[in-house]
Amino acid sequence: MVRWLNDRLRRLPVWAVWLGGLIPLALLVWDTFTGGLGIDPVRDIEFRLGRTALYFLIASLGVTPLLRLSRISLMRFRRALGLLCFTYAVLHVLAWLSMDMGFLWAQMAKDIVKRPYLLFGMTAFLLLLPLALSSNNLSLRRMGAQAWRRLHRLVYLAAPLVALHWIWSLKTFPVEPLLWLAVILALLALRLAVPRPLRRGGLRGSGKEMA
Ligand code: HEM
Repeated sequence: MVRWLNDRLRRLPVWAVWLGGLIPLALLVWDTFTGGLGIDPVRDIEFRLGRTALYFLIASLGVTPLLRLSRISLMRFRRALGLLCFTYAVLHVLAWLSMDMGFLWAQMAKDIVKRPYLLFGMTAFLLLLPLALSSNNLSLRRMGAQAWRRLHRLVYLAAPLVALHWIWSLKTFPVEPLLWLAVILALLALRLAVPRPLRRGGLRGSGKEMA
């Protein structure tokens, strides 16, 4: 069964993941131009972009535990999932900068004082930035596998920060983000608890295969 699934997954092109991953963006654009957003359209746009970024972040975190626990391999798609997360995070930040703040520094400083949870989001974004920039084979070759893998562990810091960013932004009891925080912590625990299988022939080639 696992072999059958992995065979099917091997035939799925990475661009199909990109295509699927951009559907939430297409729906958001559609809703923006057809009046499908809520009573506060700017917040709606920010929320949807932020949430989608978080979902892709969690999906990319789930790839290694899934492989180690079930041998189902989504490794070929991990880079796309990570970059999709970053794409939505950039759009989320741009939405805040442009529609909320009008690119005004003074306004931004005031907003950060008023809503300190933004600092969690900013820190998470700064942690994700080097990961996105080094998500290519050239960086992997230049940095070497060990350093590259060490750098990419930053994702385990960024993900809980995003959940805290969401939790702190709410005035009501944060049921949903707490659930996502639990998922993130469970994925982190699994990563630490389930050892990496020994490879025959050492590390080969690209970051796509690195668990
Ligand atoms: C410079 C960095 C960031 C800024 C300025 C920022 C800004 C914001 C703002 C203004 C909100 C709306 C809060 C509200 O009005 O109640 C928000 C919510 C949110 N942000 Fe961020 N954010 C940043 C980084 C991130 C990153 C990197 C992610 C994900 C990878 C993220 C995910 C979320 C989520 C999931 C929400 C909650 C959405 C909801 O309530 O439905 N943010 N952020």
